[in-house]
Amino acid sequence: MTDTAPAKVALVTGANKGLGHETARQLAALGHTVLLTARDPALGEAAAAGIDGDVRFLRLDVTDADSVRAVGEHVAEHHGGLDLLVNNAGVTGIPRGTARTLDELTVEDLTSVLDTNFTGVFAVTQALLPALRKASGRVINVTSSLATFERVATGAAQRPDLLPYCASKAAMNMASVFYAGALAESGVTVYAVSPGFVATDLNNFTGPKSVEEGAAVIVRYATADAATLPDRRFLTETGTIPW
Ligand SMILES: NC(=O)c1ccc[n+]([C@@H]2O[C@H](COP(=O)([O-])OP(=O)(O)OC[C@H]3O[C@@H](n4cnc5c(N)ncnc54)[C@H](OP(=O)(O)O)[C@@H]3O)[C@@H](O)[C@H]2O)c1
Repeated sequence: MTDTAPAKVALVTGANKGLGHETARQLAALGHTVLLTARDPALGEAAAAGIDGDVRFLRLDVTDADSVRAVGEHVAEHHGGLDLLVNNAGVTGIPRGTARTLDELTVEDLTSVLDTNFTGVFAVTQALLPALRKASGRVINVTSSLATFERVATGAAQRPDLLPYCASKAAMNMASVFYAGALAESGVTVYAVSPGFVATDLNNFTGPKSVEEGAAVIVRYATADAATLPDRRFLTETGTIPW
C-alpha cells in the first residue's frame, strides 16, 4: 500500500496543437491522467503519443452532439469523476491573411464561431457536469482579453472581422460566471483564463509569448488551491482584469 494520492483526471479540448496540446503536456508532467481530445483522430492520436505520461486520446468535436455525448459517457464509465475540464478548443473565423470589412461579415461567419467557442463550451460542460460534480472538479474556460468591452472599444473594434471572436469569448465569460455561481455548492470551481497573446496557428504565430508560457498560465490556475485564487473569475497572467 502506498500513500501516493491518486492521479487527477483532466480533459482538454482542442488539444492536438497549440495551447491545448501544451496544456495537456504540462498537466501530464504534473502526474495527471490526461484525456487529450481532438476532432481529427489522426492528429489527436499523434499528439497524445508525443507526450510522456498517462495521456489518452478521445475524439471530440465540440460542435458535434454525438461526439460530445460519447465523451460524457466515456468519462462516466471509465473514470467516474473528472477533476479538471479545460475548454480550450477555439476558432477566430478569420481565414489566414484576410481582413474583412463589417459589410462583408455574414450570419454564417458569426454562427460558426459561436458554435465552437460558446455553444461548444456549453455542450461539453453540460455533458461532463455529473463527472465534475462527483470530483468537485474545476472548469477552466480559455478566454481572451479581447472579450473585454474596454479592450475592444479601445482597439479591437477597428478590426470588424474580430466581432464574432470577441462576442463568442464575452459570451463564454458570461457562461463562466453563471456556472461558477450555480456550481459553487457542489465544490466545482469555474474560471475564465486568458493566456495572453501566444504564437499559435490561431494568429499565424504572431503572438509574442510562447505556447509554454501561455499554457503555464492555464495550468497555474487549473491546479491552484481555490482558496489562493482571487475572488474574480476572469484571470490573466498578472491577476484579474475587468470583464
Ligand atoms: N493564441 C492566442 O494568443 C490566444 C489568446 C487568447 C485566447 N486563446 C484561446 O486559446 C484557445 C486555443 O487556441 P490556440 O491559440 O492554441 O489556437 P490553435 O493552435 O489554432 O488551436 C485551436 C484548437 O482548437 C481546435 N478546434 C477548433 N474547432 C474545434 C472543434 N469544433 N472541436 C474540437 N476542437 C476544435 C483545433 O483543432 P483543429 O486542429 O482540428 O482545427 C485546435 O486543436 C482558443 O480558445 C483561443 O481562442 C488564444
